[in-house]
Amino acid sequence: MDRAIRAKALHFPGSNAGSMTYFDDGVLLIRDGTVVDFDDASRLESKGFDLGQCESYPEHLLMPGFIDPHIHFPQWDVVASFGTRLLEWLETYTFPAERRFADPEFAEVAAEEFCDGLLAAGTTTAMAYSSSHAVATEALFRAAERRSMRLLTGKVLMDQNAPDGVRDVMPAAISESEALLKAWHGRGRLGYVITPRFAGTSTPEQLSAAGELFARYPDAWVQTHLSETIEEINWTASIHPSAKDYFGIYEDAGLANARAMMGHCIHLTAEEIRRMAGSGAAAIFCPSSNLFLGSGLMPYERLMEAGIPVGLASDVGGGPQICLLHTMADAYKVLQLQGYPLSAKEAFFQVTKGNAQVLQIDSFVGDFTPGKEADFILIDPEKSPEVSRRVARAQTIDERLFALMMLGDARVIAQASTLGQCRISKRSEGT
Ligand code: GUN
Ligand code: ZN
Repeated sequence: MDRAIRAKALHFPGSNAGSMTYFDDGVLLIRDGTVVDFDDASRLESKGFDLGQCESYPEHLLMPGFIDPHIHFPQWDVVASFGTRLLEWLETYTFPAERRFADPEFAEVAAEEFCDGLLAAGTTTAMAYSSSHAVATEALFRAAERRSMRLLTGKVLMDQNAPDGVRDVMPAAISESEALLKAWHGRGRLGYVITPRFAGTSTPEQLSAAGELFARYPDAWVQTHLSETIEEINWTASIHPSAKDYFGIYEDAGLANARAMMGHCIHLTAEEIRRMAGSGAAAIFCPSSNLFLGSGLMPYERLMEAGIPVGLASDVGGGPQICLLHTMADAYKVLQLQGYPLSAKEAFFQVTKGNAQVLQIDSFVGDFTPGKEADFILIDPEKSPEVSRRVARAQTIDERLFALMMLGDARVIAQASTLGQCRISKRSEGT
């Protein structure tokens, strides 16, 4: 065995939150970067495993690494920018920040910091937007590869309604995307995401060329934004007047199937929800961003009931914090306003196995069934006085998890490992 980690431990081996398996004294066995076994310590001992080999963290919580299905690599520097809603926020803060990523040296340093920032926050896998620059996209792939992270990203496509320095041109935008895809998609743990930013910043020609690219590489992904604010919806309709509705723009371009991730989906009509469910496209719930930018309350339960796969994401920099524990806390608050109390079980399911399922990478990551890639985190509640105080009074694992999601932050992430190798460790090692 390469590593044996002993701690309080949980995962979701099934396809829903109800499948949670929790061990007060669990062990994760890893060889060659993959999970060999995950079980109760005494059961493993009775199978002949020598518990003396374990790295032991009796008060830590071991779980699969978090998966963030919607985050913007070039926006980490503009989180917490004051006073604007989506369209003005893009113009005022976001596009100027993204312009800097044309510089390969700047992008290289930023990519290193971004990947370390993800790991320090417990996120071992992400689907990220790059900027519109190939150099920044390559820098992010390289930084993820150096850390053996499973990372999906793509160059942002935007050939209209964006300033010089971030606006791209056709047909070069598509040939650049294809060259990146050919170089990086399926290389180790990396994957390419065809990334038209949103309908407002792409011409109909660019959207259909992106759809044609997707048709040629159906095992790539698509990511874009959909129906985030009322102002954006009206503006988009004026730019694409012949489309039936906002979702119809992506549908017509061939950008809506089960490998397409639609950020936000707050204000969809009943008709759009029906067609989106039929397409298999996923909706990505970004509660922190939706609160911060004042975009609205995503109808999570309604979309799920309609049969749309729903992921849960930080959306940094619309969302201010990179740690998905904050996202879970904001999801709870947004859903409280809609009469749907989000359980800790469901929230932790969402950021691990649920997001893996939505991204269609659950055969690789998301839980600890044997053969899965060994991406895991160790959480130390003692690292946060607020969490530690509340957890001390918790009677059940559900209560502990709820305290962790409502009060936790990146401080409690003691260690993050990818493919069984420790990439970030913030405290002294176990015994
Ligand atoms: N819509 C188009 N681009 C963006 C972006 O960068 N962030 C968010 N939240 N919405 C968008
Ligand atoms: Zn976004």
